[in-house]
Amino acid sequence: NAQDADAGEKVFRKCAACHAVGEGAKNKVGPELNEIFGRVAGSLEDFKYSKAMTKAGEEGLVWDHDSLTEYLAKPRDYVKGTKMAFVGLKKDDEIANVIAYLATFSES
Ligand code: HEM
Repeated sequence: NAQDADAGEKVFRKCAACHAVGEGAKNKVGPELNEIFGRVAGSLEDFKYSKAMTKAGEEGLVWDHDSLTEYLAKPRDYVKGTKMAFVGLKKDDEIANVIAYLATFSES
């Protein structure tokens, strides 16, 4: 909901060194995160992913509420070999809120 999304905007500061989202977002160290819901993992044509992320997508990983929840808690456990150098978010509410924030930039 809108309240969670507002809180999630603050959580996103932890992501923003590497990721952009919103109008005109470009890839940075990490891929831009517009329309992340329903995106096959590792599938942006103009971003160079790790082999691990590309393979995860080929094997069927699609970003949705559940997969994002698991990935953002422990990125390097959920996609072994990912080059996302981020330990993960510790608190469940931070995870839920940042996902609510990302959802505001996704149609599905
Ligand atoms: C990949 C979200 C923090 C660097 C991704 C992906 C998502 C994501 C959803 C997969 C995108 C796709 O498949 O197209 C987030 C969120 C963060 C965060 C919500 C904060 C809570 C960071 C930070 C860094 C980073 C701090 C840099 C230090 C990357 C990189 C990838 C990636 C390099 C590509 C991974 C690979 O190819 O293995 N991130 N991220 N992310 N992220 Fe993050």
